[in-house]
Order: sequence, then structure tokens, then C-alpha cells
Amino acid sequence: MAPIVINTQEEIAAMRRGGKILADVLARVAAMVAPGADAAVLNTEAERIIAAHGATPLFLGYQPEGAASPYPAALCVSINDEVVHAIPYEGKVIRDGDVVSLDLGVRYEGMCVDSALTVAAGGVPARTQKLIAVTNKALYEGIAAVRAGAKLGDVGHAIQLCVEREGFSVVRELAGHGVGHHAHEEPMILNFGKKGTGEALVAGMTIAIEPMVTAGDWRIKTDKDGWGIRTMDGSLAAHFEHTVLVTEEGCEILTGLEA
Ligand code: MF3
Ligand code: CO
Repeated sequence: MAPIVINTQEEIAAMRRGGKILADVLARVAAMVAPGADAAVLNTEAERIIAAHGATPLFLGYQPEGAASPYPAALCVSINDEVVHAIPYEGKVIRDGDVVSLDLGVRYEGMCVDSALTVAAGGVPARTQKLIAVTNKALYEGIAAVRAGAKLGDVGHAIQLCVEREGFSVVRELAGHGVGHHAHEEPMILNFGKKGTGEALVAGMTIAIEPMVTAGDWRIKTDKDGWGIRTMDGSLAAHFEHTVLVTEEGCEILTGLEA
């Protein structure tokens, strides 16, 4: 990982523009989630809209150190017990009652932004709706803890508290991250922690906050394809993510629709 970066105003402006593009693509692809929709078609559509905006998919061809193969798509489509990073294979069809997490990154004017959301396809039980709503709420509680001088542990603590008081679990082995010049930069943004601990946030940092929450146990395993990550116990998972700019007063969400 690259060291912590404080971005220039020009770089931040580029991320603001890229973030709007990403929000538009993600919203349009999320609107296609329905029983019968093929994950590969969602990915193709994401690639088409990204290109129409003059942006580049961030995850396509991405191969971090230790990965056996480059990621083969623009979009991650993780369904039910799949937590994150699931490949949208052709023939992977969304069914009624599925919990569908979409994760997408784009590069625009040289800068990277990263965002994710979870939606239900068709009808799901109240507890499943709750899992999705609480994961989204946990993201916003984490975001609310961000400001220059706050500690990373404040952010993790806010997320963990929100999740665990509803009886859900936070995935421990994956985390948010710095993002900007690269898809993944320092620091690591844990989704659990203790108030007042860890590194301090600095104005001008851009970070991706991304709680991954399960209805059961937090332990995970990796699929044979080396990418898809599932809950060990088969329980449902949800995932929300925004790229945010740390400011003196708080933060600015760069990947919001109204950003
Ligand atoms: N948003 C994901 C993360 O921060 C990026 C996944 S990269 C991919 O972990 F190649 F797996 F798509
Ligand atoms: Co991310």
C-alpha cells in the first residue's frame, strides 16, 4: 500500500467529478436488480455507462499482490452469503428474495473512487430488510465520526456499535482503505474498534469506508476462483461503501448521488 496521501484541490475536484459518475452508474445498475437479471448483464451495463462518461473501470484487471488472477470484471455482484468481490459470471441469475451487493470503482482524470450498496431483489423477510438498513446506517454513523483529528478507532467503534446493537456481526478480516491515486492506499479503515485509538484523520485525506455485515457469524472464506468471499456459516451479508474527503469540520461524501 502507498503511504497516507493528502490530496491537492485539483485531485479532490477530480474525485468529486469521478464520484458523481460512479454514483450515477451504481444507481442505474442497482435499478436493474430484479428476479431474472443476469449478473453479467449488470456488469456489461456498468462498463457501458462508465465508458459513456469517459471514465475507466477501476477493478477490471485489478490484481493485488498475492492474488492468483486479475479481477475479470468492472462490477462485483455478491449475492446472499457472498460478502464481497464475487465475479458476475454469465448465468449467475438473481432470484426473488436475493440480497444483492454491488461494488464498483472508477478512475477519472487519474483519480480513483470506490462505492458499494446492497439491494433486495423482490420480497425479503423483515429481518433481511433490517440487515440491509442497518449496514447502510452503520456506514453513515462511521461517516458521522469522520473529521480532522478524529481517530480511526472512533470510526470503527461507531460502525461496530450500530451493527452489534441490532444483533448483527461485522466482518473482521476485510476493511475500508485510503483511496485516490490508487484503489487501495493507507490507512486501513477497520469496521470495529475502540474510541480514541488508532491513527488520526487529517484534512485532505480521501478514504473509503465500507462496513461488511452478516446476519450470523463474522467469519469468512474465499471461493475457489480466488475472488468471491462468503460467510463461513452461510448467513446473509450486506455491504455499503462511500469514498469521503476528510475536512476540518467533518467530511464530504464524494460518491453520493447529490454530491
Ligand atoms: N471495493 C473493493 C474493496 O475495496 C474493491 C474490490 S477490487 C476487486 O475491497 F477487484 F475485487 F473488485
Ligand atoms: Co473499497
